[in-house]
Amino acid sequence: METAMKPQHISLDLSKWVLLPSTSTKRKLRDLNGFFADTQATKSILKSGQDPIIYEVYECLQPQEVGHLNLGTTIVHPGKIGEEFYMTKGHFHAKEASSEVYLGLEGEGLILLQSRTGNSECLAMSQGDVIYVPPGWGHRTVNVGAERLAFFFTYQADAGHDYESVQKRGFSKLVVERHGRVQVVGNPRFMTKT
Ligand code: F6R
Ligand code: ZN
Repeated sequence: METAMKPQHISLDLSKWVLLPSTSTKRKLRDLNGFFADTQATKSILKSGQDPIIYEVYECLQPQEVGHLNLGTTIVHPGKIGEEFYMTKGHFHAKEASSEVYLGLEGEGLILLQSRTGNSECLAMSQGDVIYVPPGWGHRTVNVGAERLAFFFTYQADAGHDYESVQKRGFSKLVVERHGRVQVVGNPRFMTKT
């Protein structure tokens, strides 16, 4: 089957981790209101007039039809809200039967993965690590380092994103700094959040 799209050449800027051409989306703290466990910390930062950029996504092509792949890069900045490290919102793919691949480019990250039935996994991702996200596993990326975390991603173009489930129920695990160490701990508000 030949599609309307011609074969594409895309460049990756190896210092900025930006794909060319691409469109960028910046996610600020205000966009993640309710995603970090410490809602008071979020509120007081926003109230003080600050609204830091938590992460940036650079996507190219963005075809929607079956058969295509979406691809892009994400840069998660270093930092914490309360004791919780900066992270992406996290999502399930709306089309459950779709998968995704991440390739670590720079920095130190953890990927939280969880299934709809409550199974969870946590995988480390740094430069050169390839992470395969199988169908049905929600995923969130956390920057646990002092520098930016950058990774490349590709997934089925018709996968769609379900952020609502994550916003309502949270992830079962949180990645926090306690006693100067990175710790993956249970989320006391998981499933009980309304
Ligand atoms: C796409 C995907 C990544 C994320 C990106 C931002 O399916 O997993 O490209 O979209 O890292 O994270 P979210 O989408 O959770 O805000
Ligand atoms: Zn995804």
